[in-house]
Amino acid sequence: MKNEFYDLKELYEYAWRLVIRGTVDKKSPARHPTIGTNGISGMPELRTVVLRHADQKTASLEVHTDIKSKKIEELGNNPRVGMHIWFPTNKLQVRIKAISEIQKGDEIKEQWEKVPNESRVSYGTLPTPGTIIKSSFDYEKPVKFERFCIIKLNVEEIDLTHLGNRHTRALFAKTNNWSGSWLAP
Ligand SMILES: Cc1cc2nc3c(=O)[nH]c(=O)nc-3n(C[C@H](O)[C@H](O)[C@H](O)COP(=O)(O)O)c2cc1C
Repeated sequence: MKNEFYDLKELYEYAWRLVIRGTVDKKSPARHPTIGTNGISGMPELRTVVLRHADQKTASLEVHTDIKSKKIEELGNNPRVGMHIWFPTNKLQVRIKAISEIQKGDEIKEQWEKVPNESRVSYGTLPTPGTIIKSSFDYEKPVKFERFCIIKLNVEEIDLTHLGNRHTRALFAKTNNWSGSWLAP
């Protein structure tokens, strides 16, 4: 566990390592980040998701969802996404800004093949997610490949806050080739 950071690159690499761990370790806080979109009415919308893929080289992240979910409509309107993860053991807050793209159909057939059967029912709910229903279980969960999509997050900025002996904060931006700057925490 790091107590204090003096080196921007070290902090940046550390944060990516923790984020990537979420894609393989179900107990990692990065397994279940919160993502934020701009709601159609202008109100913020936040929800928990599963982090499916993270790649430091391309600075990209992936989340799976139902193409009929509200967030997809919102992203069609405004592709900007926020992601938040708090790592309590490492005392690190990660705040990400990204531009999303939606992948669907044949281009994601390979990823669909890897989705376990019990998870495939998350893509195809009838009526569509968010519809008012008469009673709590008044819905069905058929498996529908055509409802499966991937939200790819192309990361633009990463804001890190570390609560060490002394607190540190740093901002890393794609436009600066991720070189980073210290910020007053
Ligand atoms: C632990 C947990 C994991 C979740 N994972 C996902 C996910 O990977 N993808 C997803 O679309 N929704 C996931 N959800 C449901 C979302 O939080 C949300 O309720 C749903 O996607 C509808 O959101 P929307 O109306 O903003 O589109 C998860 C919920 C929980 C509690």
